[in-house]
Amino acid sequence: MDSNFLIVAEKAARTAGGILLMHLGRPLDVEFKGDADIVTRVDRLSEEAIVSIIRDAYPGHQILAEEGTSWQGKSEYRWIIDPLDGTTNYAHSFPCFAVSIGLEASGRMIAGVVYDPVRDECFTAAEGNGAYLNGNPIHVSATDRLDLALLATGFPYDRRKNPDKYLELFRKFMMKAQEIRRPGSASIDLCYLASGRIDGFWECKLKPWDVAAAVVIVREAGGRMSDFKGNSYSIYGEETLASNGKIHDEMVRITSLRS
Ligand code: IPD
Ligand code: CA
Ligand code: CA
Repeated sequence: MDSNFLIVAEKAARTAGGILLMHLGRPLDVEFKGDADIVTRVDRLSEEAIVSIIRDAYPGHQILAEEGTSWQGKSEYRWIIDPLDGTTNYAHSFPCFAVSIGLEASGRMIAGVVYDPVRDECFTAAEGNGAYLNGNPIHVSATDRLDLALLATGFPYDRRKNPDKYLELFRKFMMKAQEIRRPGSASIDLCYLASGRIDGFWECKLKPWDVAAAVVIVREAGGRMSDFKGNSYSIYGEETLASNGKIHDEMVRITSLRS
């Protein structure tokens, strides 16, 4: 893989992170995309900055970004971008949000950068090269029992329409795991899994840009990702189950029972 991919992605993520910090706590124009799904001017400013850096470096590459930027073409490469993962947190100045930039090559995710500007934590990974936090290698935890595991999750934007489905799963994990967190930024949750800060994660209906970068980081850190039945994972699917590998089967026993 071209080693410049990660350099360009990290430059874009850090530039966008600077924009997020600059506007944090200032009045925002919040627009509703759905009844609980918001977007702000800062999401768009961040996306513009990222796209401009990537387009400068790789004008032929394809781009898919959450706030509408879409470049298609013949290139095998496609950048999948969430310019602000954790917008609701951001709009409340709750300091848990990130920039997420993943690179897909012929349908496979090969590189990813997730940058948390509040903590200046930059998670990076390229296929076959390991996963890193600010340049230091990271690895998933060794926790091998669900009752000793710290999990994270999130609730999809249609939660008011389908509360029972999501609450049932939450209830089951609540009864089995040591504890559960709901931080509000899926890309950060997955990077915390990759760095051993949590042991497992599940969520329904995440979008490709929420997970595109983190999927490489989790994989390279030794973690496992699947759907709720334990089948192979796709960033375009509706179910995300991720773990340190050791508690994966125990988690699948819970998630596979619900449908
Ligand atoms: C959201 C966050 C959140 C998750 C939602 C996502 P956004 O992304 O990742 O943790 O629970 O499902 O949509 O909308 O803030 O980019
Ligand atoms: Ca997101
Ligand atoms: Ca977003």
